[in-house]
Amino acid sequence: MTPFVGRQRELELVLDGYERSKEGRGQAISIISEAGVGKSRLLYEFRKAVTNEDVTFLEGSCLSYSRNVAYYPIVDLLKANFDIQDSDTEQEIREKVTKGLQSIKVDEASALPYLLELLSVKESGIDKIPLSPEARKERTIEAIKKIVLKGSEIRPLIMATEDLHWMDRSSEDVMKELLESIAGARVFLIFTYRPEFVHTWGSRSYHSQVTLNRLSNRETLTMATHILGVPYIERGLEDLILQKTEGIPFFIEEFIKSLKDFDVGCSELIGHGWVQLSGHQLHGSEYLHYRTSFELLLQCFSFVVRQTFLNSGRCTFDQVLGLFVEPGDESASKLRREDSAQHQNLRLRTLWLSSDANLPQLSQR
Ligand SMILES: Nc1ncnc2c1ncn2[C@@H]1O[C@H](COP(=O)(O)OP(=O)(O)OP(=O)(O)O)[C@@H](O)[C@H]1O
Ligand SMILES: [Mg+2]
Repeated sequence: MTPFVGRQRELELVLDGYERSKEGRGQAISIISEAGVGKSRLLYEFRKAVTNEDVTFLEGSCLSYSRNVAYYPIVDLLKANFDIQDSDTEQEIREKVTKGLQSIKVDEASALPYLLELLSVKESGIDKIPLSPEARKERTIEAIKKIVLKGSEIRPLIMATEDLHWMDRSSEDVMKELLESIAGARVFLIFTYRPEFVHTWGSRSYHSQVTLNRLSNRETLTMATHILGVPYIERGLEDLILQKTEGIPFFIEEFIKSLKDFDVGCSELIGHGWVQLSGHQLHGSEYLHYRTSFELLLQCFSFVVRQTFLNSGRCTFDQVLGLFVEPGDESASKLRREDSAQHQNLRLRTLWLSSDANLPQLSQR
């Protein structure tokens, strides 16, 4: 995983909320950002920061297709709470929930059938309770609230629900109720969502929001150098990264990965200052030095790719060398001698250059 960059202030905010909730002042925090900007990562870092705490940490997520699936993230949270595995039989689930309810002193009749029903256990017992759908929903929410509040009396409870922009109505009602009932409990609710989600909950003094902005140029480049594993990045490449990724961590990772895949070996060829360009389509027989312009590197590789490898998508080290180095050039044999196995089978991923519509000026050359 890419080392965590920036976001110290935001992490502090989440930790602050947790500290307060631990003292019995229930808290909620919403982490909001566009896609790929780092909500899940911040949550992950927070979870890491509290791993040694004596606290129950439950996580649930909404998915793009779960908007019409009632209680989707709640089921995740319940499973986590009762330590239910996908491989558990219905009998095992029943036992775990029953035991769980006993340990937090929630009476079975008011909760068990509703929870088992949510967990899709066939003989949940809910059919024996004559209730309107509305009343059943109310009792279900009550049961969930009880486990949260009673559970938090034994150990502080953190409940994180991700991607509320895909949340179903029933889950939203649960969250709303929970939000209204945690004020005096050791409960910390964390929500993550993209800005398009507009919740219908009233504002509460104990519910804060943290909006993640895109990374600054400096943070973007720090992240890029981490991923590339280099001490610094040459200027031309810096500009390209900033321009292509716009400070969105997800794009930064993907873009650098595509560069790395493509660039295996070639930056070393050129990096060692040995490679000479012989193709007149390029820049005469210019010598590429270490830290050569990235633009030029791309040009020469787009040339290689188009000339030779478009069909196969791979080439040997000698083929590449043959394109760049004058026959009989001393540096070529030197390079061959010191060549590693990786170079011998240099693979060029043509896909990236040929499919990247963002680099028309390069692929046209
Ligand atoms: N501050 C950061 N430092 C380093 N890497 C980061 C940072 N923030 C995010 N990333 C990485 O960027 C990628 C996207 O981040 P993440 O999944 O957290 O985005 P998200 O906001 O949850 O997106 P979505 O709305 O799609 O769920 C992840 O691989 C994550 O590890
Ligand atoms: Mg996410």
